[in-house]
Amino acid sequence: MSQFNRNRRLRVNESIRSIVRETSLSPQDFMLPMFVAEGKDIKSPIPSMPGIYRHSLDNTIKEVKEAWDLGIRAVNIYVKVSENLKDNTGKEAWNKDGLMQQTIRAIKDAVPEMIVMPDVALDPYSIYGHDGIIEKGYVVNDPTIDALTRMSLSHAEAGADFVAPSDMMDGRVFAIRKALEEHGHHNVGIMSYSAKYASAFYGPFRDALDSAPVDAQNIPKDKKTYQMDYANRIEAIKEALDDVAEGADIVMVKPGIAYLDIVREVKNAVNVPVSVYHVSGEYAMIKAAAERGWLDHDRIMIEQLYCIKRAGASLISTYFAKEASVLLNK
Ligand code: PBG
Repeated sequence: MSQFNRNRRLRVNESIRSIVRETSLSPQDFMLPMFVAEGKDIKSPIPSMPGIYRHSLDNTIKEVKEAWDLGIRAVNIYVKVSENLKDNTGKEAWNKDGLMQQTIRAIKDAVPEMIVMPDVALDPYSIYGHDGIIEKGYVVNDPTIDALTRMSLSHAEAGADFVAPSDMMDGRVFAIRKALEEHGHHNVGIMSYSAKYASAFYGPFRDALDSAPVDAQNIPKDKKTYQMDYANRIEAIKEALDDVAEGADIVMVKPGIAYLDIVREVKNAVNVPVSVYHVSGEYAMIKAAAERGWLDHDRIMIEQLYCIKRAGASLISTYFAKEASVLLNK
């Protein structure tokens, strides 16, 4: 009787399905990405990301409290600074009273147990919209690392639990880890964007921060000299292993849904938690299709998040964090 298996027996009703389910999903699996803007009482919508706002610091704190009450335990912070603070060195990035540093302090003050993970990359501070310093039309690696290290230290000093370098420079995890240790920040972790692809899925995010690469002579039009080629798989494993060797506590794969093969491969290759960034364009696609009535918003949202988890993610950074938590808590 072994050649005829009734696999459907385990799908007969929801009780059975619930006790054999291989993957679970809960608000603790999510990190909430947040956009912070200068000013007071500001909640400005991002047209390509319905339901997501750039909040001033006061409103950011309200959002963080709501997220905490829903069971979310980590936030990723991105700031939008005004044009006059931007240059090619990105020096505003390590201003100890900069918007990011103020935000970290305010969140840790208001909700001390919330894990705060500031983004580490120069693009919000770069007049050119690049993640690093540009010399002769090229994003230069080692000078950029010095900037990222200063930036990370200023985040740690403001109270960040983790720093999250999203820039894809080589050797930055090692340099940041070394600097954190030398300054006594032994318990400040590093979540490294290890396999971050040069992707068109980031479009809405660049709208949100007004951080797209500028169209100017001798400025690269895209980020392909540092972010990965989406045709590559083996390289992602090398990037992740290198970052673990350099001291990363968590490695990230980004984007999510179109890259789940990479998530599984990286998961199998490393011995640290893997996180996945379900990025702005993925969010926008679901919102747009749902607005037209072409897809069932809530079911697609939960299905995608489960699939990311199933692929091997321990943590998912997603703009759906709050909406999905509301549903999961029901
Ligand atoms: C930049 C950064 C980007 C995102 C996170 N950090 C954009 C980029 O690399 O151009 C994208 C996130 C998203 O699309 O949701 N350091």
